[in-house]
Amino acid sequence: MAIDPNENVIRRAAEFLQDTDSLFVMTGAGISAESGIPTFRGANGLWRKYSVQDLATPHAFARNPALVWEWYRWRQDIILRAKPNAAHHALVRLERRMENFLLLTQNVDDLHRRAGTRNVREIHGNIFRKKCSRCGAKRDSKDVRSVKDSLPRCTCGALLRPDVVWFGEIIPSEIWNEALTFLRTAGVALFCGTSGVVWPAAGIPEIAIRQGLKTIEVNPEPTPISEIVHVSVRAKAGTALPEILRFLSH
Ligand code: APR
Repeated sequence: MAIDPNENVIRRAAEFLQDTDSLFVMTGAGISAESGIPTFRGANGLWRKYSVQDLATPHAFARNPALVWEWYRWRQDIILRAKPNAAHHALVRLERRMENFLLLTQNVDDLHRRAGTRNVREIHGNIFRKKCSRCGAKRDSKDVRSVKDSLPRCTCGALLRPDVVWFGEIIPSEIWNEALTFLRTAGVALFCGTSGVVWPAAGIPEIAIRQGLKTIEVNPEPTPISEIVHVSVRAKAGTALPEILRFLSH
C-alpha cells in the first residue's frame, strides 16, 4: 500500500514529540482558519480586501479611529461566534504531555485560551483587550458594542484602542525574552499556521534551529519556514495535529 507521503512526515513529527518533554509552539492565523476566522495573506486573506495602512497602524487610528474600531468590532464579532477547532484542542492535549510547554501565538483571537491551553503568550496582543491611546491603561472587556454607540474612552479622557500590536509598533519585550529563554532549553519547536513573513516572530524558526531544536512545520502551503525545518507537514492543522497525536503513545 503506497504510504501517503504525509504519513512519513507525520510519523517523524510524532517521533520528535515522543522524544522530548519540552515543547515550544508558535502559531499564526492558519490555526484559526478552520474556526472560520479569516487569515491575513491566504487566498481570502484580510490584507487582500483591506489596506493595512488604513486599519492596523497607529497613524490609521489617529486619522480615523471610528473606522479602525468598526473593523476590529467586525473581527471581534466573527471571533466571538467562532469556536476553537481540532488543532487548538490537539495543542491542549500536547501541552498536557509535556513537562515544559510554551505556546507563542501571533493570533489575537483568544482561541488557544478558550480551548484550554494554559501556557500561552500573545505576542501581538488580544483583540478583546483595550489600551488607552495616551496613558496606556489596559481594560479587559468583551463588550462588542457597535461603533455608533460612541468610541470607548479611558478615565483619563483619551480614546481607548484595541490592545493589539500594529505595524510599526514593538512587540512586548517580556514575552519575546521569555520565548528566547524557553528556546534555550526546549527540545522541539512546532510552527503551525503561520506564513513566517512578519518579523520579529518570523526570526524564531532560525533561532530554534541554531539552538539545536528539532523543528516541525504544519502548513498546507510552503513558506520560508518550510526551507529550514526538519519536518514540514503539508496539511491543515485540524487534520495534521490530531494525526500526529494518534502516533504518540498514551
Ligand atoms: N492549517 C494550517 N495552516 C493554515 C491553514 C490551516 N487550516 N489555513 C491556512 N494556513 C496557513 C496559510 O498557508 C498561511 O501560511 O496559515 C498561514 C497564514 O498566514 P498569515 O495570514 O500571514 O497569518 P500569520 O502568519 O499569522 O500573520 C502574522 O501578520 O498581519 C499580521 O499581526 C498579523 O499576526 C499576524 C501576522
